[in-house]
Amino acid sequence: MSTLTDASWALVALRNDLPADSVTAVTVDGREIALYRLADEVFATANACTHGNARLCDGFVEAGEIECPLHQGRFDIRTGKAMCRPLREDLRIYPVKLDGERVYVGLNHSVNPQ
Ligand code: FES
Repeated sequence: MSTLTDASWALVALRNDLPADSVTAVTVDGREIALYRLADEVFATANACTHGNARLCDGFVEAGEIECPLHQGRFDIRTGKAMCRPLREDLRIYPVKLDGERVYVGLNHSVNPQ
């Protein structure tokens, strides 16, 4: 059983520092992770688009989806599912735990296989 003191859970942000309905990039252990705050919930995905060389933190959040800034492919933020062309590959998502305002991301916890 994992706890927030495990090294695999990284403190990445404070929830109140994340703008609502927006995306923020953080780098943890050399990995770029995109954080999304949707209402009071926080979600985390890989920051790199699965289609090409684009960072999703430069994209747009709308209706629970992140739109890639390069070719406007859209992913479901909660599941990482690729929602439209030209995307063919889902996005890796990371589990998030909140401890008060502290946001932890599980770096080695697989939510969807990639
Ligand atoms: Fe993201 Fe093409 S690089 S949709």
